[in-house]
Amino acid sequence: MRVRAEQTQESAENHSKRLEVSVEGAQPQQAGALTGYLPHKSDVVRDLFDRIAVRYDRANTMMTAGMDELWRVAAADQLHVADDARLLDLCCGTGGLSRVMARKVPEGSVDAVDFSSKMLDVARARPGPRNIEWHQADVLALPFEDATFDGAAMGFSMRNIVDIGACLREVARVLKPGATFVNLEISKPPNALWRRLFYFYFYNVLPLIGGAAGGDAAAYRYLPQSLVSFPDADALAALFQADKFAHVRYVRLMGGIVAMHIGTTDRAPNGRSIAPGKDLLA
Ligand SMILES: C[S@@+](CC[C@H](N)C(=O)[O-])C[C@H]1O[C@@H](n2cnc3c(N)ncnc32)[C@H](O)[C@@H]1O
Repeated sequence: MRVRAEQTQESAENHSKRLEVSVEGAQPQQAGALTGYLPHKSDVVRDLFDRIAVRYDRANTMMTAGMDELWRVAAADQLHVADDARLLDLCCGTGGLSRVMARKVPEGSVDAVDFSSKMLDVARARPGPRNIEWHQADVLALPFEDATFDGAAMGFSMRNIVDIGACLREVARVLKPGATFVNLEISKPPNALWRRLFYFYFYNVLPLIGGAAGGDAAAYRYLPQSLVSFPDADALAALFQADKFAHVRYVRLMGGIVAMHIGTTDRAPNGRSIAPGKDLLA
């Protein structure tokens, strides 16, 4: 995989700008559900997830025909940790990935972070493993000490993050040296025909299903838009490399509809290089 740091920076800037445009440029009839007066993009995103929280899981199952849970299991499988490890689930939402991760560490624990109180309410109410602690916080300012976690994952959320580079640096900060971060996200299939078919479904059909199942048509019109300016798999790998991760690999699922990016921290918190970790997918 050949990637360049300059491209990376540009992608991150474009991503921020485009998210701004798609939120602030929303038409009133679309925006009805997105707005009121909200001063910050992250407030808009949090408000949106607060509104769809109660029906989020059902809408996801319908939109992905249940595949989303299999993808979460595949992501958690990339974390090769001991039974007593301490893991971090970023943007945990209703906790689907947190519960899969918690089962991996029966003698350890998972800290699950999200800034939407309503998504966390649903997460807390779901049955499942008890070794999960839920935190309401912004993943751009995590309430944890440096080098706390043995591994981390994020599911279907990076598209909503206003500054991907800042997020990656914050994740790297709280991971122990040599620990792995797995990011699971919708991506852009490389095959042109498959990409066209997927985009037709994603931009035209999915908002209808999501709107009907999730009860908030405007929210499900907005959510696919967050893929427009999101980096493709190579560019996202470049962002990982530029922002503190080494041994970066990605795995495409379903012909690239979903991508799992895997990176390992290779620096101690004070910036010293340490011995490289294992290439998980080499
Ligand atoms: C599409 S949901 C994904 C939830 C879950 N990870 C899953 O796999 O279903 C995105 C989640 O990211 C959260 N989120 C977005 N930006 C965030 C941020 N900056 N800090 C914390 N949570 C954030 C939203 O509140 C929402 O719950």
